[in-house]
Amino acid sequence: MTAGVLGEMTVFKKVGLALVMLISMNAVASNQFTADRITERVAPAAAPCVEGQECKDAAPVVVVVAPVAVKAPSAKGTYDVKCFACHGTGAAGAPKLGDKEAWAPRVAQGIDALYEHAIGGFNAMPAKGACSDCSDDSIKAVVDYMVENAK
Ligand code: HEC
Repeated sequence: MTAGVLGEMTVFKKVGLALVMLISMNAVASNQFTADRITERVAPAAAPCVEGQECKDAAPVVVVVAPVAVKAPSAKGTYDVKCFACHGTGAAGAPKLGDKEAWAPRVAQGIDALYEHAIGGFNAMPAKGACSDCSDDSIKAVVDYMVENAK
């Protein structure tokens, strides 16, 4: 945003924008707010815009909030996309998600062995489930998710 645009904004709108940015920065710093809750918290600041006044500042507010909503995929999200093909179906002899019997001897090896096999590959299990752009940590999170489902 240029200084010119800022200059044209009323004091009220500047204060509102600053408040939204502050809330967003807080949310990023503590990383404990979901996008929905941020939307709830931001709504009051944007509300006067909706109730019969000029609403030219709505766009900057959305732009400021957007980066907060971008988050890493959940373990389940990664599983669904990268692991389900085998672990949801048992393809190639993969232990199925939630199959306690199939997982028991594997879990018994210890979590570090499971991490190692998931990241480095193990027989027909491809390294990282063939997800070359998955981080080690995201693979570990999926292994935790699989182990959690085997209890
Ligand atoms: C192409 C099919 C395939 C995909 C995709 C796949 N797996 Fe596997 N996975 C296997 C097979 C087959 C085994 C069993 C290997 C064996 O025990 O010989 C296995 C075993 C495992 C094990 C147990 C290893 C052990 O020590 O017993 C873990 C953990 C695992 N996979 C995690 C994952 C994760 C996490 C993903 C997704 C990121 C994934 N797999 C994607 C086929 C797959």
